[in-house]
Amino acid sequence: ILILSVNSFAMGMMPPSHMEMIDPTKVDQTPPFDNPGLRQVGDNEYELVMTAFIFGYAPNEIEIPAGAKVTFKVTSKDVVHGFAIPGTNVNMMITPGYISTLTHTFSDPGEYLILCNEYCGIGHQVMATRIVVKGKEGEKS
Ligand code: CUA
Repeated sequence: ILILSVNSFAMGMMPPSHMEMIDPTKVDQTPPFDNPGLRQVGDNEYELVMTAFIFGYAPNEIEIPAGAKVTFKVTSKDVVHGFAIPGTNVNMMITPGYISTLTHTFSDPGEYLILCNEYCGIGHQVMATRIVVKGKEGEKS
């Protein structure tokens, strides 16, 4: 009885945080997706708000400093897309109406591709953008 009441309390009171929802038809008007981009939230910590759409991502190219801890917040403006960065653990499904969140620390400078790995239509193969991780200041990148 105790377990049952705890469960129903939790179900009723707390929406699961990993299933944050938005109106998929109003992405461009819904903060923070009305202004996609990189925001610094701490010491080399960033929030990167992105939208996925047929057939690309916004913002289109992102520069971050090496060692940056980046929390991605991504949603789709149309259909289901993928969001994968080869060579990292970043791999999300981007579903209209939901906000997908994941944190990754980019330790090594270089170029990282963001690829769509969910078939989304005729332009699926070219749906990609990149993150450029720059060397620390004073170092050669
Ligand atoms: Cu977007 Cu495949």
